Amino acid sequence: MMKIFAFANQKGGVGKTTTAVTLADGLARLKIRTLLVDLDPQGHLALSFGLEKSPGLYRLVCLDEPLSEVKVAVRPYLDLVTGDKQTEKVKRQITLSDFRETILTDLLRDASYDAVLLDMAPSLDVLHINGLIAADWVVIPTRLDALAVDGVKEILTTMAEITRTGHSYQGYSILPTFFDRTTRETLIQFQDLARTFSDHVWPPIPQDTRVRETAAYGKTMWDYSPNSSAMEGYLEGRQKLGGYRQVLGRMMEVING
Ligand SMILES: Nc1ncnc2c1ncn2[C@@H]1O[C@H](COP(=O)(O)OP(=O)(O)O)[C@@H](O)[C@H]1O
Ligand SMILES: [Mg+2]
Repeated sequence: MMKIFAFANQKGGVGKTTTAVTLADGLARLKIRTLLVDLDPQGHLALSFGLEKSPGLYRLVCLDEPLSEVKVAVRPYLDLVTGDKQTEKVKRQITLSDFRETILTDLLRDASYDAVLLDMAPSLDVLHINGLIAADWVVIPTRLDALAVDGVKEILTTMAEITRTGHSYQGYSILPTFFDRTTRETLIQFQDLARTFSDHVWPPIPQDTRVRETAAYGKTMWDYSPNSSAMEGYLEGRQKLGGYRQVLGRMMEVING
């Protein structure tokens, strides 16, 4: 059965887009039929794959074009619905609609994918709510700074409100990003998250300059830097901890579960 994941945090620059891109491409390489949807008017998803921004979401929602025509195939098993500043018009259209909270749910319902990944904007508008209502599973990337727990709680509060309207989530995960084990602050915040949210916390993604470079080259980490620490995690004794490869394993468990 198709699983829809939302990558959400009302804070910007926490690694939502990077995570959605890296995991979507990872799933595709495992032959999981994957759709990645850009819900952010910044339109960065297209750039991440070396493509131009374009109004994919606008065509889907406002022009009623079918998903099969709007989606762009970026590699085998991986399709993309792009975004750009026209996504702002999508919000306006949704606001005027009778079914304004479930438009995205309805559009995705009959799609034939194994996994849909929604890259959300750092806002709390009607499109954000649509994404959270369409989702089966919410992944909350967070930096490990003093406000980390606070940002996570904001999303969980919104999810709780949505649950009260009758929607049920299969689960959620918190993904610590920009993990730097040489700073005390990172370790303290990581322990704090683990204490507060226990099993919901996924293995952390190391801070890694290769990630920023990758985006600039329009490639994903799987092509540009597959052995970097963001992908492989860091060594703890002989064990590797964290990294996108391990997190991809967690995602596969959700998809197969
Ligand atoms: N693990 C990481 N290490 C270093 N830089 C990162 C890491 N993850 C993301 N970045 C960089 O941080 C910036 C913000 O990440 P992005 O994924 O766009 O966040 P968001 O979508 O939450 O705004 C980008 O320039 C990205 O390349
Ligand atoms: Mg983003």
